[in-house]
Amino acid sequence: MSKIACFVEKYNFSDPREEAALYNFKNAAEKAGHQFNFLFRENIAEIPKYNAVFIRATTDPLFTAYIVSKTAWELGLKVVDDPESIKICANKIHQYALFEKYNVPRIPTVFLSKDDLHHKQIKEIFDTLGKPAVIKAPYTSFSRYVEKAACETSFRDVTKRFFKKSDVLAIQKFTPTAFDWRVGVLNNDTLYVCKYMIPKGKWKHGAKLRGKPTVVWGRTVAVGKQKVPERLKEVALKACSVIGKGLYGVDLKEVDGDFVVVEVNDNPSIYAGYEDSKDKDIYQRIINYLSD
Ligand SMILES: Nc1ncnc2c1ncn2[C@@H]1O[C@H](COP(=O)(O)OP(=O)(O)O)[C@@H](O)[C@H]1O
Ligand SMILES: [Mg+2]
Repeated sequence: MSKIACFVEKYNFSDPREEAALYNFKNAAEKAGHQFNFLFRENIAEIPKYNAVFIRATTDPLFTAYIVSKTAWELGLKVVDDPESIKICANKIHQYALFEKYNVPRIPTVFLSKDDLHHKQIKEIFDTLGKPAVIKAPYTSFSRYVEKAACETSFRDVTKRFFKKSDVLAIQKFTPTAFDWRVGVLNNDTLYVCKYMIPKGKWKHGAKLRGKPTVVWGRTVAVGKQKVPERLKEVALKACSVIGKGLYGVDLKEVDGDFVVVEVNDNPSIYAGYEDSKDKDIYQRIINYLSD
């Protein structure tokens, strides 16, 4: 019998599909004879009472969720997401540098420092990556700091804004597709696969702003992990292997029949009737991992 704390914030219960998923975790745990309690920020002093912590609140090194993760980790508890994964996934520059180092198939990417923003460099970037180019600030999520620029003027305009957030930006080849593949990975194994459809006329799957009534753009189409190309799973697993052994949602694009990683997310969304609709065992598998 394991005692599992699920760290949540109030907004995790504001979307009924997410709330249902949270109760699916609770039911899966209790069915297996474990204790499963929701832990809110008022009660984080209770962490030492538990054997494992499962974080569902949004993770960021500046958020309470990180304190929870770090505390659990230092106490030797099993923790998803672990502090290292949170840190790497929060920083696209760090993450892309790891992909480069370990040869993970990825969208062609160059890094741009504040001091290198001049005509020659911009021209070289466009020559290498083509037009438009996609510009990303390292700490983006929910597509907030991901924009494209097709000429030097707009490139300067976007980068100037983003350099207020960070001294280094990632610039990528524009690789539009009708959907992003989303591969759920746990402990080096595929958990589920779905497609995050990109709305017509847009190029970003866009925002799942948890807790806010705003924008839920693309549809989610569960595919099932048995039904997808082996290569897709292979690339997704390779990407996660350079980050850690926890729970991740890998975004990939299909280009000329092969797959490139867009990014690895820790704390991937799990909504009842969406990510779980083909791979029903995801709740049980995550609970098994936490209680192992
Ligand atoms: N180089 C690119 N070319 C085309 N679309 C991209 C590119 N990079 C990201 N996107 C799309 O933009 C969205 C957000 O990008 P992502 O890197 O995942 O940032 P975030 O962390 O903000 O979600 C995704 O839907 C993704 O498919
Ligand atoms: Mg993303």
